Amino acid sequence: MTNNIKRIAVFTSGGDAPGMNTAIRAVARTAIYHDLHVYGIYGGYDGMIRGDISRLELRDVGNIMQRGGTILKTARSKEFMTVEGRMKAAESLKAHDIDACVAIGGNGTFTGALVFSEEHNIPFVGLPGTIDNDLYGTDYTIGFDTAINTAMEAVDKIRDTADSHNRLFFIEVMGRHSGYIALHTAIGTGATNVFLPEVPNSIETLIGELRFAAKRHKLFNLVIVAEGNEGGNATELAAIVKEKAPEFDTKVSVIGHLQRGGSPTCSDRVLASRLGYASVEALIKGKKNVAIGIVNDHLTYTPFEDAIHKVKDLNKDLINMAQILAT
Ligand code: F6P
Repeated sequence: MTNNIKRIAVFTSGGDAPGMNTAIRAVARTAIYHDLHVYGIYGGYDGMIRGDISRLELRDVGNIMQRGGTILKTARSKEFMTVEGRMKAAESLKAHDIDACVAIGGNGTFTGALVFSEEHNIPFVGLPGTIDNDLYGTDYTIGFDTAINTAMEAVDKIRDTADSHNRLFFIEVMGRHSGYIALHTAIGTGATNVFLPEVPNSIETLIGELRFAAKRHKLFNLVIVAEGNEGGNATELAAIVKEKAPEFDTKVSVIGHLQRGGSPTCSDRVLASRLGYASVEALIKGKKNVAIGIVNDHLTYTPFEDAIHKVKDLNKDLINMAQILAT
C-alpha cells in the first residue's frame, strides 16, 4: 500500500440514482481487498456533519447491487455550504480517523468536495452519480442508462393510449438544465419532436409539423420536453398548442421521480462497479480532488474544477437524426 491511507469513507449526495448501491459495494469490497477499513457516511454531507458514520464490512454491502436508491441515504445539504458546517464535518471525519473520501453524486457534490478538501486537506475522489448525465469528464453517469430506459418504457405505454385516441402528448422528463434524458428518450421512442434546454425550438414550427403530419394521416404524436426547456415545460407548451391549434386533442404527462428509482440496468451496474473499484485504486495511488469517469471505454481523472465548470455538449447530430427518423 502507498500513500498511508488506512481508512476511507464513502457517501452519496444530491439526487439518488440507480447504481449508487452498486458503486458503494464496489468501493467497500475493493477497499477491504486492499486491507483498508471502509466507512459509510449516512445522509450525504448532512450525515458527515452529524457524524453519522459506521464501518462497512463485506456482508454489509451484499445483496444491494441490484437495488435502486442508496443504502447510505442522501441529502442536499445547506449546512455544508457554510464554513461552520464544513468544520463540524471535518471534526466528524477526524473522530473516525478517516484519511480519504469517495463522494458519489453530481455537480453540487463535487463542488462541496472541492471546497472541503481545500479547507481541511482531506483527499476526495468523486464518482459521477446522477440520472442527468450532465457531468463533464465521463461519457455516462451512474443512473442515466436506467433513467432513460424507465422513461422509454413509460413513453411506450403512453404511445398505446395516444395511438388509440389519436392524441397529442407532451411528455416531460427530468434532467435539470440538461437535455440528455430528453434527447435519448425521444430517439428511443421515435417521438415526433423534442424540446431541449440546449437548442432553441419553436412551438409554431411544431404546430406546422403536426398539421403536415395530420395530412399524411399521422394521427397521434409524442413530444418529449426536457424539464429545463427554456421556452416552457410540458404543461406550458401544451397550453399554447391548445390555444393555437385546438384541433389537436392535447394531453400532458410528467414522468417525474419514477425516473429516479428502480433496479439499475446492467450498463449502470458495470459502470458503477468499474468506477467504484477505480476510486479506491486512485486514492491508494495518491490521486485526489478528481472526478473519475469513463470516456471511450478508458478511465479518466478530471480535476473537480473542470468537472464542475466545463460543459459536456449534447451531440447535435443526434437531434438532426431524431427529426429525420421521426417524420
Ligand atoms: O439531478 C437529478 C434530478 O432528478 C433532476 O433531474 C431534477 O431536476 C432534480 O434532481 C429533482 O430534484 P428533487 O428530487 O430534489 O426534487
